[in-house]
Amino acid sequence: MLNLAVLVSGGGTNLQAIIDAIGAGKLTGVKIVKVISNKEGAYALERAKKHGIEAVCISPKSFAARDEYFREMEDTIKDSGADLIVLAGFLVVLSDSFVRAFEGRIINIHPSLIPSFCGDGFYGLKVHEEALKRGVKVTGATVHFVDEGTDTGPIILQKAVYIENDDTPEILQKRVMEQAEWIILPKAIQAIADGRVRLENGRAVVEMCKGEKI
Ligand code: GRF
Repeated sequence: MLNLAVLVSGGGTNLQAIIDAIGAGKLTGVKIVKVISNKEGAYALERAKKHGIEAVCISPKSFAARDEYFREMEDTIKDSGADLIVLAGFLVVLSDSFVRAFEGRIINIHPSLIPSFCGDGFYGLKVHEEALKRGVKVTGATVHFVDEGTDTGPIILQKAVYIENDDTPEILQKRVMEQAEWIILPKAIQAIADGRVRLENGRAVVEMCKGEKI
């Protein structure tokens, strides 16, 4: 069993996609053992509780220093028995020591095709605003391992989404979630749980299941 700690900041639709995939038997050998939000009122916490998953808020504001916050996060995650940390719309920039403590065991979902529209400042609607501003015709989502940089870790899965002429950032955000994020996040977790992801020369190599389509 691969135990997951899912870190969230907002609505938690990606968390819901994981919960639903487990419920539907599409994601197997995986259990969510903890959901942690940095924001008190995050709806993601409600989603977790509704499904009987332990959910807590650990706010950086409650700590005098950043390293104290991350020490608490580290202890809570270690106590939960999680093997893999899933950043599902988690808007806190991780400290280097936190990333090192869980090296190769943190993944993130980003709403663009990395290396486009990623890095510092590219989060939430901003990503889609910039894609529309640049006039790209294809965008998408990426699941990647987290390293000390911002959106620089090895890419696990990507899925493309077409842009339409009358898209707004909000419309595009919703399409990217529906057509890409909610699909590739559970698939990436399944691949890791199955031992089908290995690192080679700084890149992630994923063995797909026979006939599997992204
Ligand atoms: C998603 O677009 C995700 O890619 C980004 O933040 C958003 C979170 O949405 N990192 P939700 O909280 O999962 O609904």
